[in-house]
Amino acid sequence: MSRDAGLPNLARAREILSQSSRVAAFSGAGLSAESGLPTFRDPETDALWASYDPSELASIDGFVANPARVIDWYGWRRNRYARVRPNAAHRALAAQPKMIQITQNVDNLLEQAGVAPDRVYHLHGSILFDRCHSDDCNYREAVDLENPPGLRDCPHCGNRLRPAVVWFGENLPLDTWQRAHALCAALDCLLVVGTSATVYPAAGLIELARRNGSRIIVVDPNPGEAGAQADVSLAATAGEALPLLLEGFNLESASST
Ligand code: APR
Repeated sequence: MSRDAGLPNLARAREILSQSSRVAAFSGAGLSAESGLPTFRDPETDALWASYDPSELASIDGFVANPARVIDWYGWRRNRYARVRPNAAHRALAAQPKMIQITQNVDNLLEQAGVAPDRVYHLHGSILFDRCHSDDCNYREAVDLENPPGLRDCPHCGNRLRPAVVWFGENLPLDTWQRAHALCAALDCLLVVGTSATVYPAAGLIELARRNGSRIIVVDPNPGEAGAQADVSLAATAGEALPLLLEGFNLESASST
């Protein structure tokens, strides 16, 4: 492979990776963009929040105000998720079985690409499941993305069922967050892939890793906020850059806490 394969900074990024033994990846919607899923804010794609109001569709207040509208919208999204498959970026990450994948994405494309489920930390939940809206009830069930359920009640407690994703203003799943936080405090290198790094607390993992001595490699056509915290940015799509970046790299030890 020529040094940069036409991708500026590639050699530098590969050098950092080759010097790292504790490596994890932190991803956002951009990772799944080339599979055909919209991002939330990227003007280059049919970004969801450019057409839809997150306070109506991704908040507790929005759900309480009009649960049917929210469930219908997730039904529409679930149909789209049913039709997509992993892209070259997911496959490149899956080829590193010991690497932990911290993701904000609610799809299961990393798992479909072969990443072991216990190595994917879903900070914002999963669109493949419904859960009871009541915090006092642990009911949860898998849903059929091709035939997503309509508005319905919890068979255990009678409260509403809703997608098992994290809405604005809601807490992240505690155990998953604590594991991601502990991991990012003990890395040599964090790969930041396809996130605008604007939604907290997840975005704070980049600064946490950097503060604890980790180098930051950003992969994003528009590196933005994450790029400002990077040691090196690859201004390319994840599908283009990750196979080149990870080619020949073999993470020896499992970077898990
Ligand atoms: N490859 C890599 N990055 C890409 C690609 C691609 N093919 N296409 C777009 N991007 C980048 C954009 O440049 C942008 O920086 O992906 C990023 C997507 O940013 P957002 O749309 O803000 O998505 P994300 O960072 O995952 O959002 C965080 O916000 O709405 C909530 O809960 C939702 O998890 C989500 C969170």
